Amino acid sequence: MNILLVGLGGMGACHYNNYQHIEDAAVVACVGKGERDQDAAKAWGIPLYETVAQACQSENIDLVDVCTPTHLHKPLVLDAIAQGKHVICEKPIALKLADAQEMYAAAEEKGVQLYVAQVLQFTREVETLREVVADARYGKPLDGCFERLTACPKWSAGGWLFDKEKSGLLPFDLHIHDLDVIVSMFGKPDDVLFTECAGPGKAYSEQYRFLYVWHSGMNVCAEAAWFNAAIPFTARWRVYFERGMLVCDHNGVTGYADDGTVTQFDVSEPVTVDCGINLGRSGWFLRELTHLLACAKKGEPSPLVPKQRILDVLEIIERI
Ligand SMILES: NC(=O)c1ccc[n+]([C@@H]2O[C@H](COP(=O)([O-])OP(=O)(O)OC[C@H]3O[C@@H](n4cnc5c(N)ncnc54)[C@H](O)[C@@H]3O)[C@@H](O)[C@H]2O)c1
Repeated sequence: MNILLVGLGGMGACHYNNYQHIEDAAVVACVGKGERDQDAAKAWGIPLYETVAQACQSENIDLVDVCTPTHLHKPLVLDAIAQGKHVICEKPIALKLADAQEMYAAAEEKGVQLYVAQVLQFTREVETLREVVADARYGKPLDGCFERLTACPKWSAGGWLFDKEKSGLLPFDLHIHDLDVIVSMFGKPDDVLFTECAGPGKAYSEQYRFLYVWHSGMNVCAEAAWFNAAIPFTARWRVYFERGMLVCDHNGVTGYADDGTVTQFDVSEPVTVDCGINLGRSGWFLRELTHLLACAKKGEPSPLVPKQRILDVLEIIERI
């Protein structure tokens, strides 16, 4: 698969590094705007174009991978689709449900696939949760609790991340990771409540606590924050079932059954790649991109990032 990489910042470099480990994947060209993009293209020895159309018309491209700031996803994805290319788009697909619907409609009309890179779906941890929910070894899920907390990413100050029109702030940028998992496991919630807080002078909310409620009786609370406190990055969850609990934290994924059995699930990654972002070495993106390229090669949608769920999640977040 010949790939055109669009946006060569943190995620563009992460995807580039991972493509180097995928047999049959070659990043053959890139599109970028700034000095950082020029430096990366030079370091990687690939041609840099100003637009997706120019790149697609000059190179033999199978798939376009969009890793730009979020507000640019829609025009760039539409450009790629107009060129008849399959597309991988970083999360969140867009900041408005109507935009995402337009993007999927354009892909359907052109007969190409549009994949959203919700990376947690490809992790061993979430795979384990999916299996435990599906095989009901602990019974039905009753309650869940998800956290994704980080010190405020101050290095992005002045950048697009803190501009609501460009990133959508915490709900779209950070919480969407967990909400995508929550909806994939338990379906679309029937009700959503939330609280938010911000310190004095802050132009955005620093912390959100969400409560998702289903008529079935299932409840999930979730928290997302860019705290003005130098805490280590914290991402963890627990799901309580009728006869046990599954916990994902710094110890990996552990199952606690009602009969006293403790199961340490194997979530180790056979191959890890330096992602170049604050995640360090990880197998997450390798699994994600390997899967999405395999789907694209067959011209099929991905069962792990289906259109309807992507739209459901965006609809919920747009209401927040
Ligand atoms: N999956 C994840 O875990 C994860 C993590 C971080 C960011 N993201 C997502 O990835 C996307 C990019 O985030 P980032 O942190 O890499 O941003 P970044 O600011 O580090 O990089 C963005 C790059 O896009 C380039 N760019 C800007 N305008 C462009 C244009 N018109 N055409 C081509 N390139 C252009 C910039 O020059 C820059 O190199 C965002 O949507 C973000 O939400 C996902």
